[in-house]
Amino acid sequence: MTSTVERPLGEEKLQRHFDDRIAHDQRIEPRDWMPEGYRKTLVRQIAQHAHSEIIGMQPEGNWLTRAPSLRRKAILLAKVQDEAGHGLYLYSAAETLGVDRSELTEKLLQRKQKYSSIFNYPTLTFADIGVIGWLVDGAAICNQVPLCRSSYGPYARAMVRICKEESFHQRQGYELLMTMMRGTEEQQRMVQDATDRWWWPSLMMFGPPDGDSPNTQQSMAWRIKRHTNDELRQKFVDMTVPQAEALGVALPDPALRWNAERGHYDFGEPDWTELKQVISGRGPCNEQRIARRRAAHEEGQWVRDAAAAHARKTRGRTS
Ligand SMILES: [Fe+2]
Ligand SMILES: [Fe+2]
Repeated sequence: MTSTVERPLGEEKLQRHFDDRIAHDQRIEPRDWMPEGYRKTLVRQIAQHAHSEIIGMQPEGNWLTRAPSLRRKAILLAKVQDEAGHGLYLYSAAETLGVDRSELTEKLLQRKQKYSSIFNYPTLTFADIGVIGWLVDGAAICNQVPLCRSSYGPYARAMVRICKEESFHQRQGYELLMTMMRGTEEQQRMVQDATDRWWWPSLMMFGPPDGDSPNTQQSMAWRIKRHTNDELRQKFVDMTVPQAEALGVALPDPALRWNAERGHYDFGEPDWTELKQVISGRGPCNEQRIARRRAAHEEGQWVRDAAAAHARKTRGRTS
C-alpha cells in the first residue's frame, strides 16, 4: 500500500525520509511511503512464509490419527493448529501491503509463489514428528527470531507471537525424542533414522550459500533480513550439536567437528543440487502437497461463500 497522502513531497524526498527511518532502525508502517522494490520483496517473503506455515501442516497432520497416545495427539494437534494460526497472521501482514489473501493462495496453487523446501519430504514414522519439532522448528526459530526486529512493523509484530509458539514446538519435539531414546532399541533406531533423513534438509532451510543468494544484500540493506543464510546456518549447527549429544544421536556428517580457532563447529556442504531440485518442484512430495492444498481450497469454497453471504446480510441489516 503506497501512500498517496505524502506524494506532493516528491519521490526523492520520500526516498530520503524512508532511508533515514531505516538507518535509525525505525519501523516502516503500512501507510508510510516505501519503494516499490521493498514492498515487492516483503510481499514475496511474507507470502512464502505464510504458504510454508500452511503447507507445513500436511507432513505432521499425516500423523494426527496415528499418534501413540492421547497426550501425544493433543500436543500434535495443538502444534498443527498453531501453524494454521501462523499462516493467518502472516497472510494478514501481507494484506497490509495491498495484496489479497485469495490472490496469494492462487499464486501458490499455480506454483508462482514458493514455500519452504523442507515440507516436500515425507514423514515416515512417529519419530519424524519429534525430529521435525527439534530440527525444523529449531531452524525456523534461528531464522525467525531476528525477523522480530525486521524493519516492516506488521511483519515484525507477527513474528513475536510466532516465535513464542515455535519455541513450544521445538521443545515438544525434543521431549518426544528424549522419551523415545529412553525406550526400546527399536525406538532409538527410529530416532536415529529420522535424524539421518532430516538433518541435511534442515540445513537447506536457510537457503543457498551466501555467494548464490542474490537478494540477501538488498534485504539486509533494507533491514528486512538481519543475518546472511550462512550466518544463520552456522548458528543453527552450533546450537544443535550439543542437543544431539545430550539426546545420544549421531548427526550424519563426518566433517562435523569443533573448530576452537573459529569458536564454531565446522560442517560439511549440503547437497545444493538436491535443494535446487526440490525448489523447482521435483522433491519427493511436491505434487502431493500442492494437490492436497488445492483440494482443501476447493472443498472450502462453500465456507467462503457462506461467510460472504453472511457479511452481505449483516451489511444490509445495518444500513
Ligand atoms: Fe510456524
Ligand atoms: Fe512450528
